[in-house]
Amino acid sequence: MRDWATIAAASVIAALSGLGIGYLLWAWPTNWYTADVSRLGPGAENDLIRYGKDLIVDTPRHIGKSASDPALRFAGNDLACQSCHLDAGLQPFAAPFVSTFATYPMMVNDHVQTLRERINGCMTRSMNGKPLPEDGHEMQALIAYIKFVGTDSPEGVRVAGMGLRPLPTTAEQPDATRGEAVYAKFCANCHKADGQGEKRLTPHVGYTIPPLWGDDSFNAGAGMAKLDYAAAYIHDNMPFGIDYQDPVLTVQQAWDVAAYLEPAFAG
Ligand code: HEC
Ligand code: HEC
Repeated sequence: MRDWATIAAASVIAALSGLGIGYLLWAWPTNWYTADVSRLGPGAENDLIRYGKDLIVDTPRHIGKSASDPALRFAGNDLACQSCHLDAGLQPFAAPFVSTFATYPMMVNDHVQTLRERINGCMTRSMNGKPLPEDGHEMQALIAYIKFVGTDSPEGVRVAGMGLRPLPTTAEQPDATRGEAVYAKFCANCHKADGQGEKRLTPHVGYTIPPLWGDDSFNAGAGMAKLDYAAAYIHDNMPFGIDYQDPVLTVQQAWDVAAYLEPAFAG
């Protein structure tokens, strides 16, 4: 595990990354998290947006390792984008997509990263698979949906709730032994003791509860495999059904359970 002070410094840096991009304060005049595909009318452009949402929600059926069309088996696991990007990218602090279209391309580690590259970053690590062809129908649909989710959101600004909320460090270091007890109490009922969640029965692809580690989950290069990302995500979003305004775990419990999971994340 990385040294505790390094992690504290790194989460400050994470909060400041996306240089040159402004952040709006919480007291927003507009709720940006309201995009709703059911309001869209007919038409080819809207069909592309609808397909994009379907790809986020039902990823394994379309582009997962068991997708019906073998040519589209790009992901190496059966997670959905929505397994992490909750509510199809509309949940604050669950890495939502509201400001994504308006803030890409973005400077990341001295390199200009395009939105296609960012999506393929998740394809290769979070989805443990192959990159989507940059001009393919699936990439176009994902971008059309991400653009739609950000309709009218301010250009060049990351609205409040984007990304993950860096979790403050605590007096006590993260402790995997305490974390094991947190997992048993708050997580195992859904994700199971073996971390493999619950498969969906109909259709036979994907999960109702996604696996947290192993061949059917993200790989060690994924953002979620990092202690500070996992702790922040878990604190603000798990047990499933809560949000950042009403967390169930204490900050310490979130660090501890992330420390318990981290060796499994690393493979
Ligand atoms: C295992 C969890 C996980 C899965 C599955 C996943 N992602 Fe991500 N994704 C993340 C995390 C974590 C971030 C980074 C959040 C941050 O940097 O604050 C991220 C960031 C992104 C971003 C950048 C958003 C922004 O503006 O900050 C895009 C776009 C994205 N993912 C697309 C996808 C797509 C499309 C899929 C499915 C093909 C997918 N992701 C699957 C965890 C995941
Ligand atoms: C009520 C059932 C439930 C409980 C309890 C629960 N989760 Fe989840 N978890 C989910 C579901 C469902 C998703 C995926 C959301 C979706 O598909 O819309 C998820 C997603 C996740 C993810 C991202 C996806 C992945 O596969 O890695 C992580 C990490 C996670 N949960 C960790 C935890 C931890 C740690 C706990 C305990 C503190 C916990 N969860 C408790 C149901 C639950």
